[in-house]
This record gives sequence, C-alpha cells and structure tokens, in this order.
Amino acid sequence: MPDGLFLSFEGIDGSGKSTQARRLAEHLRGHGREIILTREPGGSPGAEEIRRLLLEGTVDRWSAETELLLFTAARRDHLERTIRPALDRGAVVICDRFADSTRMYQGLSRGDLRAHVDALHEAMIGTEPDRTFLIDMDPERGLARALGRAGPEERFESFGTELQAKMRAGFLALAREFPERIAVIDGDASEDEVAARILASLP
Ligand code: ADP
Ligand code: TYD
Repeated sequence: MPDGLFLSFEGIDGSGKSTQARRLAEHLRGHGREIILTREPGGSPGAEEIRRLLLEGTVDRWSAETELLLFTAARRDHLERTIRPALDRGAVVICDRFADSTRMYQGLSRGDLRAHVDALHEAMIGTEPDRTFLIDMDPERGLARALGRAGPEERFESFGTELQAKMRAGFLALAREFPERIAVIDGDASEDEVAARILASLP
C-alpha cells in the first residue's frame, strides 16, 4: 500500500485557503490517486458538531484554554475518523487549516499558551502534514475578503484587524520554525497565479 500524502493550508482569515485547497483538489483529481478535501475545525461528523460550538456565538463565549481543548478534541476525532484511514489507504489528504492554526490562534492570540498547545499536540495528535502551504496576505485585505462572505461563522472574524496582523507575523515566524515543512506562498495575486505558486511548492 503506498503511503498517503498529507497537505495543509494555513494563513489568516480571507487569505484564500479554502479557494486554493479546492483548486488543488480539482487539479490532483484524475491523476490516479484518491483525493480527500477536508477542513478544520471539522472534517468528521463529531468534529463538525464541535465546529458549531467554536465558530458561532459571541467573541467571549470561550476562554483561550477552553478553545484549545475543544479544537484538540475536534482534531483528534478528525484524525481518527478521516485523516488516518485516508492516509492508510494511500490517499492525498488536503486539509484547510490544521495544528498550526491552534499554535497561532490559541497559542498566541490571547496570552502565551504555546507550551500547552505543544504538550496537547504531542500527547493527542502527534501528526504533522508532509507539506503546509502558508498563504501570506495583507491583514486588512484578508479581513475585507473574509467579511465579504456572509454567514453565521463570524466569531473569529469579529476579533478584527489587530488580531489578523498579529496572526500574520506569527505564521511567518512559524514558517521559520518549520522551514522544511512550511512553504510561504504570496497570496496577494490572482487565484490562478497563487494556484501556480502552490503547484510549484508541492513535495
Ligand atoms: P480563507 O479560506 O483563507 O478564509 P477564502 O478562500 O474563503 O479564504 O477566500 C476569501 C474570499 O476571497 C472569497 O470570497 C474568495 O472568493 C476570495 N478570493 C480568494 N482568493 C482570491 C484571490 N487570489 N484574489 C481575490 N479574491 C480571492
Ligand atoms: P475557517 O473556517 O478556516 O475560517 P476562514 O475560512 O475564515 O479562515 O476557521 C474558522 C476560525 O477558526 C478561524 O478564524 C481560525 C479559527 N481556528 C482556531 O482558532 N484554531 C484552530 O485550531 C483552527 C483549526 C481554527
């Protein structure tokens, strides 16, 4: 059985992750391998239920600590039910956000919880993507794009531009921490151009 390939997309809200994850899945389909396009929080029935708890409601609904536990619970279920079985079948798994989002949003956004994030990741997840595409983007432009989408999942968008700027800097620092895994992709270009940059950075 061939080994699967695990790819993730990361970046601030509105940077184009979902668009590019979908395009990459479309591009790779028809090349003879099973392609699983999935997302976090979510990606399995249980994790999608946790997603609703996390993304709807007021900004102060959860503390950063509670959020960390909920995101990790959702990720564990996603890993058990969707990601690991697919990789074991030899599939390509394309995931819209993964553990780097927790390192940033819960680890950095409201105080320094990174040590807890890392400890929980090691104990409960222990899996990293083979390649992560970090779509880098000006925070104001990203937020404008994100707010252009109407919907109930606005809890994190309501944290505003200041958080987006902090997350952008944090993601770039994370790319320096994991230079082998994380490819930084300039997202301030047409969808076609960004897609071409991603294909050039495939492992
Ligand atoms: P994310 O998943 O990172 O939040 P999305 O892929 O949902 O971002 O994109 C946010 C919005 O910006 C969507 O309305 C999408 O159509 C649009 N968009 C995505 N990529 C580009 C691009 N390269 N140029 C202009 N608009 C884009
Ligand atoms: P997502 O639906 O990917 O939002 P967007 O398409 O706007 O980027 O993710 C929703 C929010 O969840 C996003 O603001 C980041 C947040 N998030 C965390 O805080 N921690 C995590 O571990 C993950 C996976 C997401």
